[in-house]
Amino acid sequence: MEKFLTLANGIKIPKIGLGTYKSLDDELINALDCAYKEGYRHLDCADYYHNQDVIGKWLKKSNIDRKEIFITSKIWSSDRGYENTLKAFDRILKDFQTDYLDLLLVHWPANELYSEDWENVNRDTWRAFEKLYKDGRVKSIGVSNFLICHLESLLTFRDLEVKPMVNQIELHPGHNQTDLVNYSKENNIVVECWAPLGRGKILNDPVIVDLARKNNKTPAQITLNYLLSKGLVILPKSINSNRIKENFNVNNFKLTDEDVKKIHNLEGKYGNCVNPNEVNY
Ligand code: A2P
Repeated sequence: MEKFLTLANGIKIPKIGLGTYKSLDDELINALDCAYKEGYRHLDCADYYHNQDVIGKWLKKSNIDRKEIFITSKIWSSDRGYENTLKAFDRILKDFQTDYLDLLLVHWPANELYSEDWENVNRDTWRAFEKLYKDGRVKSIGVSNFLICHLESLLTFRDLEVKPMVNQIELHPGHNQTDLVNYSKENNIVVECWAPLGRGKILNDPVIVDLARKNNKTPAQITLNYLLSKGLVILPKSINSNRIKENFNVNNFKLTDEDVKKIHNLEGKYGNCVNPNEVNY
């Protein structure tokens, strides 16, 4: 099965990336070693995770060709705005010991709680993204946690030069965000799933467990296969070598339409972690 999706600008993005939130120090190094051996070539990172220097050291020490790895990072909310974003980006590159990123995302949209002027705040941050992209310091640019209202606002600025190519959102069978996925796809924006396993909660669901038994797979493999079948990028996080392996071997079977429907019907059952319009950062 095809391992990549193609972004609006032609860049290929591996469909499976290793999530690195809350992975630290030696545990993270072990996870990276294991993931690389298993075939992962996509790392989902963020300034906010405070571990990008560890990943930079690992890249350097393992002598891996930079071009082999697709690296994503995100600009944190306290670095919004044109100048702050550019400064944060320089720091991020230093942490990774590299001179470019494959993908840079706005970690969270400015919302009404953050500022009455949230639309212009997002536009200013995005202006820095457009500059970094045009300067060739990032190969592609996108957003994260943007709901339809935030995307619509950004996309309708008259002076917009480059459209977001990716929207990374919380997405798992308990929180399918169907309207947002459809809206993103209609605008040629690839959707990436954070917390694709619902932070692990989904894995004990009787429907998922039953399908795992029927297909001779694990609950995580059923969940991740379901998300891939919807044309999404998945970013499962693990620091455990067996689970890292398990989460990469998910693209070699096909669920029936009926099974996909059963999983889709878990909508709402496990809720979601955060509503991007209810955070005050
Ligand atoms: P661990 O890092 O110890 O493997 P999500 O990607 O939805 O945020 O889920 C991450 C959580 O799920 C982490 O607690 C992770 O723990 C756990 N996890 C990751 N992969 C699996 C798996 N294949 N089976 C069970 N739990 C998993």
